[in-house]
Order: sequence, then structure tokens, then C-alpha cells
Amino acid sequence: METLTLGTGNSQELRVAIDKAVDHLEEGSIVALPTETVYGLAANALNAEACASIFEAKQRPNFDPLIVHVSGQEMLDSVAEIPDNIADVTYTLIKEFWPGALTFILPKKEIVPDIVTSGLQTVAVRRSKNKIFAEIINSLESPIAAPSANRFGSISPTSAAAVNIELSGVIPLIIDGGACSEGVESTIIKVEPSEKKKPIIKILRPGPVTPEMLKKFGKIEKNQSHLDETSSLTSPGQLDSHYAPKTPLRVLASPDEFKLDCSKSYALLSYRGQRKDGYLELCEWSHIETLSPGSGKLPEAAVRFFYSLRKLDELGVDEIISEPIPERGIGLAIMDRLKRASHQFN
Ligand code: TXA
Ligand code: MG
Repeated sequence: METLTLGTGNSQELRVAIDKAVDHLEEGSIVALPTETVYGLAANALNAEACASIFEAKQRPNFDPLIVHVSGQEMLDSVAEIPDNIADVTYTLIKEFWPGALTFILPKKEIVPDIVTSGLQTVAVRRSKNKIFAEIINSLESPIAAPSANRFGSISPTSAAAVNIELSGVIPLIIDGGACSEGVESTIIKVEPSEKKKPIIKILRPGPVTPEMLKKFGKIEKNQSHLDETSSLTSPGQLDSHYAPKTPLRVLASPDEFKLDCSKSYALLSYRGQRKDGYLELCEWSHIETLSPGSGKLPEAAVRFFYSLRKLDELGVDEIISEPIPERGIGLAIMDRLKRASHQFN
């Protein structure tokens, strides 16, 4: 299959790209679309066959459910139930963070095909703030199922070029909306009622909406699902090994942990590229990628993270070594992805 990539650089291109994407989705085809977090591989969420093509293209196991994107309250109500006992906090969170990188796990409505939720009685829902995505979903007037547009387990794409590397020849259309502004996938939460004053907000996947941002709305619980495979029923996609480059990756908690094997070539993923952190001079690096040069700004590191990982993976070195990222704010999400990316080799 030939993969067409359509640009959105001027208003005419943008119009053509949006119309083409909507046509494809209406016909039950799949399309890669930009969102503010990562590129998504989209299908009409109410078309089970189209959603099956997502699993096929990504080679994703069917026990890993998809996120359903909505355009607003009405569409949300069509796919999910908001239970009374969590309604107040859920609506408050929606008002505060939508459109944006926050995904809710809610009881699903009948209309959502089982393939989308992998047979679960819950559905993951979010509203993207990407303008191109928003225009497409508004024209389609149907919810859009879209996991990240990479092959299963691989590095998430934050540009159309990265989608091309992942899925060229497998999908018909990519809409190029430029680089993603957040750079890591949405925060996934499950809100639960509590006897106490504050409801519980369980973070199933850390992301751009951080615990610090959520804590005034409820008691934060961090889900340890990736450490406990038996919890797979509540969050089946939180697999240990994910976001994995082909090159072995090791996160070094401290520079002293590194024992140089002179027969190997190494590349470094540095947080802020500062000598005083102790990593730059550990060895003769084949290449150094710095996430946020100088002062180490976490949002900048997030935006550059998947891009940098992909770049290092393409060098053909024996091993990628990563500095740890401070686990605060969006740094928590970056470290979560780094740990999963390195899991299979450690
Ligand atoms: O930012 C994002 O969330 C991106 C963009 C494209 O929207 N999407 C994304 O989708 O990251 P994906 O499929 O790569 O990750 C979705 C995660 C998976 O780990 C899946 O297991 C989990 O959401 N998930 C989906 N439905 C769920 C459910 N009902 N209960 C628990 N986890 C669920
Ligand atoms: Mg993914």
C-alpha cells in the first residue's frame, strides 16, 4: 500500500488534508493524525471493522484497548457514563483540563464496539486540543479511536516523519500537523468515590497533566500496574516493555554505576548536558542527545524525548545509556517511558 502524507502548511493544504482525512474516516479507513501529545492512528470509533484495522496495522494484541477521542460533552455522553458518585469531580476536571492531555476511564455505553475496549466494561476517553484533530472530529461528527501511531511496543511518534518510519506502506494516509507540542502521551486517570471529603484520582499512566496539577481535585494514587502484571484487567495496556528502541537502553541512576566495556559503542541521552551531572565524561560517547540543554526544563525535555530516543536508536550503537530525569511534573511521565523502554534489556 502506498502511504500518502499531506501537509497543512497553508490554509489551502490544510483544507485538502482535513477533507481527505474525513473522507477516509467516513469510508472506514484509518488515518494518522496529529494530537498535542503524540500522533494517533485514527478510525471511526463506532465502526468495529475500521477499529480492527488499527490493531492489524499496529500489530497490537487485541487485549490492549484504544483511547476514544470526543469533540465535547455531547459526544462524551454518547460513549461513556459518568456515575453520580464521581460526577462532580469528573466535570470539574473536564472543565479544567479539556481539551487537553487528560484521559478518563469511565463505564462504557453499548454503542462502543467491544473491540475498542478489548471487551472491558470501561472506555478511555479524551478530548484533544490539537486544532487539526478538532476540525476533523467536528466534521466527522463521530468519536475517533486513536492509539499512538507506532508499531506495537515501539517508540511513540511525535512527528509525521516518525509515523512514516513506523507505518509507511501499512496505512493509506498521514496528516502532517508538525511536531507535537506536549511530546508524551496523555495522563490516564480513573476517578473513584471515597468516604472521605476528597475523591480518589488514580493515575494509571503519568503524562502532561501531572500529580501536582491534579492534587487539589482529589487524593492522588499512583498505579503500580507495570510492576504487577496481575493487575492487567484494570489497565491492560500498561505493559512493562513498551516504547522500546531496537538498541538496548539502560537508565543509569548514578554515573558511578557505569562500567565501560571498551569493545562496545555507546550513545548518551542526557537530561541537560551538564558536565557537573557526571555523565558526559564517563566515556567516549558516539553521540550525545540532550533533552533540555543548560537549565533542564522538563516540558522541553518531554517534547524532545521520543524524537531523541528515535534518533539515538538509528545510530546503530551497541547501547544507549540514559541519565535519569527528575521525577517531578512531566518528568514523572518521561521516567515512566524510559523505564519501560529499558525494561526488556534489564
Ligand atoms: O495521548 C494519548 O493518549 C495518545 C493520543 C493519540 O491520544 N494515545 C495513546 O493511546 O497513547 P495508546 O493506545 O498508545 O495508549 C492507550 C492506553 C493503553 O495503555 C491502554 O491499555 C489504555 O490506554 N486503556 C485504554 N482503554 C482502557 C481501559 N478501558 N481501561 C484501562 N486502560 C485503558
Ligand atoms: Mg502507545
